[in-house]
Amino acid sequence: MFEQLKNRPADSLLALIKAFQGDERSGKIDLGVGVYRDAMGRTPVMRAVKAAEQVLLETQESKKYLGPEGDLQFVRLLEPIIFGNAPKYAHRLAGIQTPGGSGALRLGAELIQTATPSAKVLLGTPSWPNHAPIFASARLDRKEYAFVDLTLQEIKFDSVVSALSSAGEGDVVLLHGCCHNPTGIDFTMEQWREITDLLVAHRLVPFIDLAYQGLGDGLEQDAAPTRMILDAVDEALIAYSCDKNFGLYRERVGALYVVARNADDVRRAESNMAALARVNWSMPPDHGAVVVRTILESPDMTAMWRAELEEMCRRVNGNRTALAAASPDLAFISRQRGLFSNLSMRRETAVALRANHGIYMADSGRMNLAGMQLADADTIVAALRAVGCLKS
Ligand code: LMR
Repeated sequence: MFEQLKNRPADSLLALIKAFQGDERSGKIDLGVGVYRDAMGRTPVMRAVKAAEQVLLETQESKKYLGPEGDLQFVRLLEPIIFGNAPKYAHRLAGIQTPGGSGALRLGAELIQTATPSAKVLLGTPSWPNHAPIFASARLDRKEYAFVDLTLQEIKFDSVVSALSSAGEGDVVLLHGCCHNPTGIDFTMEQWREITDLLVAHRLVPFIDLAYQGLGDGLEQDAAPTRMILDAVDEALIAYSCDKNFGLYRERVGALYVVARNADDVRRAESNMAALARVNWSMPPDHGAVVVRTILESPDMTAMWRAELEEMCRRVNGNRTALAAASPDLAFISRQRGLFSNLSMRRETAVALRANHGIYMADSGRMNLAGMQLADADTIVAALRAVGCLKS
């Protein structure tokens, strides 16, 4: 059987984790996979998470199955954070817990495939490298369009408008709700407004990937585009991740929400999401979700979490300012948001940065700004100059 299989390359982003660990040089800098690091270079368990885990250690009495929907109280408590208080579509909202944002994307893709297998998914490139494979695995056709010009570090808004305008009714538009991965370039609110109008006019279904809420400009600001779109459209999907904003990466904590047209459609969506979850992972892992629920049930722990998230957000934006100040060629980095910026570089350049300078970033030129220390800014700029990436 297994000799029929072809070897597949390791995921290049995840391969960076091992490559960095195996590098024995002391000055190495990890700008690779998207995890937050503090000023000591650690990816700490957040204080509120520790507090919640302590409570659970003392009070959790059972780990019996919850069902394919997972912890629905977790799903409900996230709603005001994502959608605000009492959104007008509250009665048209269905939700289910998923293993991370990837699980939500996969489940959403399968829901689309079940409902409208002929729907195309419009994907602006570059995008998170796992987006296209997830939709392909769910046997959905994709239509890719250029989202950004990396040389200019600008959105190609004409290309976005033309892709949406020529899409067919019922096609799905994958949108990064905030903190675009890999470019850090988000639409302006004016552009979001135009996109919303196009979604409505062409009867397209937005699939919003919201994986970094709170790490761009703050929880409320980062949710604003999502809320504006959901206020306007009839149907939508939202893949949410708590892995980054609660620092729960390996616990795999996420949720898939669907905005449907009416109560009947909500019930249909819910039953299909549960059935699809059942054949994929049966039931999602509980620990991370119950930690998030415990935090959100406690005003004190919620305040602790919000404060630490704000601290993380400030640190990332401080790193952006430091890097932008270190070279005029990198000024755009301070205008971008979230963990990532994507320099325009060839794969060989990223390889040379690793081999000759111990600086790890994705082969695509994506760098994780949360991985650096303020004091690293000059080292990074010197290395980028040495490999010919910067003029000044
Ligand atoms: C990233 O983009 O680095 C993270 O989302 C990790 C991953 O799964 O790719």
